[in-house]
Amino acid sequence: MGIEERLFHKAKTVLDQADNVVVLTGAGISAESGVPTFRGEDGLWRSYKAEELATPEAFRRNPELVWEWYNWRRRLISETEPNAGHLSLVALERSKRHFALVTQNVDGLHRKAGSLRVFEIHGNIWTVRCSRCDIEMENNDVPLSGLPLCPACNALQRPGVVWFGETLPPYLISAVFKALECCDVFMTVGTSGMVYPAASFAAEARRSGAFVLEVNLEPTPNSRHADLSLFGKAGEILPKLIPNISGVPTG
Ligand code: OAD
Repeated sequence: MGIEERLFHKAKTVLDQADNVVVLTGAGISAESGVPTFRGEDGLWRSYKAEELATPEAFRRNPELVWEWYNWRRRLISETEPNAGHLSLVALERSKRHFALVTQNVDGLHRKAGSLRVFEIHGNIWTVRCSRCDIEMENNDVPLSGLPLCPACNALQRPGVVWFGETLPPYLISAVFKALECCDVFMTVGTSGMVYPAASFAAEARRSGAFVLEVNLEPTPNSRHADLSLFGKAGEILPKLIPNISGVPTG
């Protein structure tokens, strides 16, 4: 067996034997579905300025521009489908007694694939939230007809996502840290490990005794906390690591 094969075999055995698995995903898992990443070669933050589009100040300054950008992303995402990587995580969830999928992605593709125990820590692009009274609702219109207004108080609605400079809901973060404390295996997939708090999850899980597995195109800051890293496309690696189970489409 070559080194690559041995690493694969080890990762597969560890995952097979785990009773409690937590997975963290980032933009890389949706890349093969056609959703752009943020920091790669064609990453969104190469062509767009986060401070003009993804901050509360940007929205106060120019809500039209921010909504224009989100309308563009909503259209793009509406034309995509989950890929084999997303579907493998559905199979993984169904095969484990304890499982949590923590995603930084706002595209909703994990739920569309069929994942159930999903923590969308950066929100969801298909929700809108009132900028005054905080009431949140689903809105799947592509494009939105004009600037969306809150049906309760008539103030401007904003995308239901977390922007730079904003904190994540504390109840969500404490649920994630609890899951990290209890898991046997923590697997991080397709994230650059640059944005906190998600960037701290691998180290946290390792401290609690979990086996840390990384799947990514290239090494990241998470690699030094990983017991094992597999480099390549998530849509190719995950189906090889996770046996398909009946009822889950293969993509
Ligand atoms: P990034 O764009 O920072 O990183 C994507 C990672 O996925 C990189 O390390 C790539 O090498 C890897 N990658 C790309 N294609 C892949 C593939 N097919 N298979 C496996 N890996 C692949 O995205 P995130 O880490 O998700 O925040 O970024 C974190 C946060 O930064 C996002 O949630 C967003 C952004 O600003 C908010 O919007 C709040």
